[in-house]
Amino acid sequence: MPQLSPRLCEAINEQIKNEISSAYLYLAMSTECSARSLNGAAHWLRRQWDEELAHATKLIDYMDERGVKSEFQSIPAPEFKFEGLLALFEQALAHEQKVTLSINGLMEKAIQEQDHAAQIFLQWFVTEQIEEENSTEEVVEMLRLAGDDGSALLIIDQRLGARTAEANAEEAEA
Ligand code: FEO
Repeated sequence: MPQLSPRLCEAINEQIKNEISSAYLYLAMSTECSARSLNGAAHWLRRQWDEELAHATKLIDYMDERGVKSEFQSIPAPEFKFEGLLALFEQALAHEQKVTLSINGLMEKAIQEQDHAAQIFLQWFVTEQIEEENSTEEVVEMLRLAGDDGSALLIIDQRLGARTAEANAEEAEA
């Protein structure tokens, strides 16, 4: 198989950084929730950390398959403010929307480079971003409905705590 173009390599390296940065952000958010005894949200966000690491690994493995060694970049400390669970998940959703844009940009480059194999590979990420945005949006909507109702927030936190790892395992294998 022909090597990836330098332009596409650079863009994939950038996306690896984005995925690791996302993982780092979710880990920080998870730790914050844990410190506030929001254990269900902490668990949900920890699963998200797993997913982001799996996304980064998938890109690194693909580069390897195409005969290119990934180049790792510095990851800045994650930045977010805790102003309640709803605000936190709104930040997570805004973050996923940015990731979607970067995946779309990456796909655009693969199209411009006429790299059909890379386009097929990247389709997985395009589809995955729909799920990433939807699952985060679902949490935001639940939290908006709950408002300041403490009992409802407790139930949501319990529900977030029930997020399983099986879906992640399937995704990582895909
Ligand atoms: Fe890897 Fe949440 O996007």
